[in-house]
Amino acid sequence: MKKILVTGGAGYIGSHTIVELIAAGYTPVIVDNLCNTSTQNIDGIEKIIDTKVKWHNVDCTDKDAMDKVFTEHGKIEGIIHFAAYKAVEESVQNPQKYYDNNMGSLEVVLKCMQENDVKNIIFSSSCTVYGMPDVLPVDENAPFKKAESPYGETKQICEEMLKADTCNSVALRYFNPIGSHPSALIGDCSADRPSNLVPIITEVAIGKRKKITVFGDDYNTPDGTCVRDYIHVVDLAKSHVLAMDFLIRTPGQHAFNVGTGIGVSVLDALKAFEETNNLKINYSIGPRRSGDIEQIYANGNLVKTKLGWEPIESLEQAMKSAWDWEKQK
Ligand SMILES: NC(=O)c1ccc[n+]([C@@H]2O[C@H](COP(=O)([O-])OP(=O)(O)OC[C@H]3O[C@@H](n4cnc5c(N)ncnc54)[C@H](O)[C@@H]3O)[C@@H](O)[C@H]2O)c1
Repeated sequence: MKKILVTGGAGYIGSHTIVELIAAGYTPVIVDNLCNTSTQNIDGIEKIIDTKVKWHNVDCTDKDAMDKVFTEHGKIEGIIHFAAYKAVEESVQNPQKYYDNNMGSLEVVLKCMQENDVKNIIFSSSCTVYGMPDVLPVDENAPFKKAESPYGETKQICEEMLKADTCNSVALRYFNPIGSHPSALIGDCSADRPSNLVPIITEVAIGKRKKITVFGDDYNTPDGTCVRDYIHVVDLAKSHVLAMDFLIRTPGQHAFNVGTGIGVSVLDALKAFEETNNLKINYSIGPRRSGDIEQIYANGNLVKTKLGWEPIESLEQAMKSAWDWEKQK
C-alpha cells in the first residue's frame, strides 16, 4: 500500500481527501498542527472509514519535527500539501503571517522530500492565481495576473517554487469548494468567521447571523452579482487521488483546474440553497467588496483528458450537505 503524507489533512479539503485516499487503497499519514481545525475531523474520518488513521500534531514549518515524521515513516510515495492559511482578508491585514506559513511550509516540505528521496507532490493551488481572467472559461494557460491579496500571491509564489524544484508536481487550482461529506461527520472546522458565501449562508440559516450582504449587484453578469464556479468538496477530494495516480505514472510538472465549468451567481447560489433546504435566507444588497473579481469559472478540458476527472455531485447535493454539516457541527 502506497504511503502518502498529507499536510493539513485534518482540515476541510484534507479530511475529505483522506477518506478518498483510503477508499482508493492508499495509506495516508496526516501532519496537521490544528491551527485552523480540530480533532473533530480526525474523529469523523475514523468513523467514516471505521479504522484509526495515523496523524502527527506537527507544524510543517518546523524542519526538525518534519525530519522526524519522514524518518518514522520510511518510504513515502508522495505528498499532498494542503497546509496553509486561507483567509484572504486576514492576509491583507497580516501578509507576513501568510508568507511565513504558506511559503515556509512548502519550503520545508520540499527540503524533506529531497533529503528523503520523495519525488511526488500535489499542491493546493487556487483559481485566485488567475486574478480576473481575460477569457472565460479560464484554462491553465491563462497568465497569472497581479494577485488581489497576499494570500493569492502565496499561491502564485508556491507554484513558482514547485517549478524551480526538481520534484514531480501537480498544482491543483481549485475553484470554489463547498459542501461536506454526506455523513456530515467531517467539514470545515475553522475557528474563523467565514468570508465565503456558502458558510455565511448556512450561518444565517442557523441563526448565527441575521442576514447576508450580497456585495454588489451592478457587475456585468446576468443578474449583476458575482459569478463563481462552486465545486462539491467530495468531487474535489477525488481529484487528488487521480492526480496522485497520474503523477506516479507521469513524472513532470503539471497544473490542472478543478472546477465544474459552470458559472453560478451569488443570487443563483442563494436560491439553490433555499430551494434545496426549503428555507428562506434573509439577504440585502450592499456595495461591491474590494478585491472581488467579477466572474470566474473553469475550463476543465485538461483535467478531464489527463486525469479522467469530472464533477459528479450537483449544486443541490452540495447545498444540502453544507446545511447538514452546519446543523451538527
Ligand atoms: N477552501 C477554499 O475555498 C480553498 C480554495 C482554494 C485553495 N484552497 C487551499 O486548499 C488548502 C486547504 O484548504 P482548506 O479549505 O481545507 O483549509 P483548512 O484551513 O481547513 O485546512 C488547512 C489545514 O492546514 C493546517 N495547517 C495550516 N498551517 C499548518 C502548518 N504550518 N503546519 C501544519 N498544519 C497546518 C490547518 O490546521 C488546517 O487543518 C489550503 O492550502 C488552501 O489555501 C482552499
